[in-house]
Amino acid sequence: PMRIFSGIQPSGGLTLGNYLGALRRFAEKQGEIETVYCLVDLHAITVWQEPERLRQQTREAAAAFMAAGIDPAQSVLFVQSHVPAHAELAWLLSCVARLGWMNRMTQFKDKAGKNAEAASLGLYAYPALMAADILAYHATHVPVGDDQKQHIELTRDIAAKFNHDYGVDFFPMPEPVIEGAATRVMSLRDGTKKMSKSDPSDASRINLTDDADTIAQKIRKARTDADPLPGTMEGLKDRPEARNLVNIFAALSDESADSVLARFEGQGFGAFKPALADLAVSVLAPITRRMNELMADPAEIDRILRAGAHRADAIAAPIVAEAREIMGMIPAA
Ligand code: TYM
Repeated sequence: PMRIFSGIQPSGGLTLGNYLGALRRFAEKQGEIETVYCLVDLHAITVWQEPERLRQQTREAAAAFMAAGIDPAQSVLFVQSHVPAHAELAWLLSCVARLGWMNRMTQFKDKAGKNAEAASLGLYAYPALMAADILAYHATHVPVGDDQKQHIELTRDIAAKFNHDYGVDFFPMPEPVIEGAATRVMSLRDGTKKMSKSDPSDASRINLTDDADTIAQKIRKARTDADPLPGTMEGLKDRPEARNLVNIFAALSDESADSVLARFEGQGFGAFKPALADLAVSVLAPITRRMNELMADPAEIDRILRAGAHRADAIAAPIVAEAREIMGMIPAA
């Protein structure tokens, strides 16, 4: 049976990158297959989080999920730390994963920076926890942005080694699902850097909490070049900032980048940016409005998340209990 699992870190406000690369896709998948979506607070604390702020950001991320169309009646929507299976399976899988595999993870190198000795052990072990998230649900499909591909490949390696070492066919191989025109939304200030909630420059990203004026202003000030737009994406090979804005446009309007360019061929950013700003505001404003409504009742958000955790636990706990037995632990019950 197919099952979708994905997660987002509540380590800051969500961005247009998270929306186009992940949330929008999550909402589309609901209906035919079981969908399980997780706010990964245990991943967030791999770097310092101010406790009260983490709690707020987790509720805000939950509101963003629901505002973006994730229906907690259709999808299982919950917080990672509420379901003990994640941390537990992460340990079991840490004993399967090899140090050499972890050493190849580019996200650790990016996040740890020059002083890797000062990074937390959790930041290093992060991909084993992510593998546990996915494998605890026997998930078959994992919708993500392009930057998570390496972690899903590692998850497959861990699953395959577990199955091989214990002579079982227990964990299914999860497939990354990386779709659409915006699998890698770039910074508005630098077309070679990914748009990120942790970038020190707020002008580099659009936040799901930004109001219409802020969105329009950030797009107006986005870095670009002075050349007119070509008729196809081929012509944007060496223009990363221009390519990024066209991809954002295409993702927001659910069409291909080439069909966007067919309309704007020969025009400059003086014409393109206002059209993009209008489109971004028309898509994001209703989401921001709904988020604010939901945030007015944090107790209701907590209630929804606890109900989601209950359903998540019912799926994950028996799978992790079986993994424990396969590895040789005496059954606890
Ligand atoms: P995170 O929290 O950094 O990002 C959440 C999702 O948003 C996507 N994304 C982007 N997509 C396009 N352009 C961007 N600029 C951009 N920035 C972020 C990410 O690819 C991701 O899909 N390790 C994960 C969270 C995680 C997870 C999991 C995901 C934990 N366990 C299990 C899937 C399955 C992360 O840090 O995502």
